[in-house]
Amino acid sequence: MARNKVTVIGAGNVGATTAQRIAEAGLADVVLVDIVEGLPQGKGLDLAEAAPVVGHDSRVTGTNDYADTAGSDIIVVTSGLARQPGMSRDDLLAKNAGIVKAVVEASTKQSPDAVLIIVTNPLDAMCHVAMQASGFPRERVLGMAGVLDSARFRTFIAEELDVSVEDTHAFVLGGHGDTMVPLSRYSTVAGIPITELLPPDRIKALEERTANGGAEVVALLKTGSAFYAPAASTFEMVDAILRDRRRVLPCAVLLQDEYGVQDLFVGVPVVLGAGGMQRVIEITLSAEEQAAFKKSAAAVQELVDKLPA
Ligand code: APR
Repeated sequence: MARNKVTVIGAGNVGATTAQRIAEAGLADVVLVDIVEGLPQGKGLDLAEAAPVVGHDSRVTGTNDYADTAGSDIIVVTSGLARQPGMSRDDLLAKNAGIVKAVVEASTKQSPDAVLIIVTNPLDAMCHVAMQASGFPRERVLGMAGVLDSARFRTFIAEELDVSVEDTHAFVLGGHGDTMVPLSRYSTVAGIPITELLPPDRIKALEERTANGGAEVVALLKTGSAFYAPAASTFEMVDAILRDRRRVLPCAVLLQDEYGVQDLFVGVPVVLGAGGMQRVIEITLSAEEQAAFKKSAAAVQELVDKLPA
């Protein structure tokens, strides 16, 4: 059986760490692409030279030439500018839209059947750019945000209750921004909703920390944004697709009437497996949750409306 091939565009912090995870899991051969000459080649070579020690057979290469990415099963897009302190995700909009458009056009020409996973921020708006630039159906254009936001929520729940992260589950819906909607009712420890385990003010504090999770890391790092948790979250999506695991994960997908939203990328739970998004899972929201979701969708719409034509 031929090995899977994953192209990771952007050999920066998120891209290189994602490539490392995929390779070290032996999940696929990885092609790292960047606009900077030598950067993807150098990181690719370095990762390849770790293989004998780590013990995997994935091939890792770096390139500036999209011809080398041909026939990829998945294309992960991380290229762009990272957020700097004091810079909102939205400030990045125009700059990253141009980058995402260019790399998606170039890469999907080489791999017309690939599944696109978008990581570049502002996430939901970049998914729109990618969908338009690729012409792919919605099943094959996914945004990585919900897995990361949920992972942050889980981290904080586990810390608060002093329990294993493994026994936590968390649901975060909506856009990947300050308006994201953590759903505490569906966030659990070993199946017990956290609403049974924590007082409302503590839950609110954890939700706020989750919504502010990216900025918290940026404020500490000062010269860049988070990458370990984003790369781990991207890896989880790649793994679900390549191994047709049918994982139920929150991802940004183009909603077509689900959750009362039309033609907008917003984070919702989906089934991820072979071919990308297999279906959207719709859950009934309370009036308050529905209002928060609508507000979050409106914030995404506002960014999409600002995209260069
Ligand atoms: N083509 C290919 N690569 C590009 C292009 C382009 N047109 N423009 C920029 N890049 C590359 C940069 O050269 C850099 O190596 O994208 C890489 C981005 O890496 P970092 O600056 O380290 O940023 P990173 O932390 O990886 O974040 C990337 O993911 O989480 C999001 O908000 C984050 O949008 C940001 C993205």
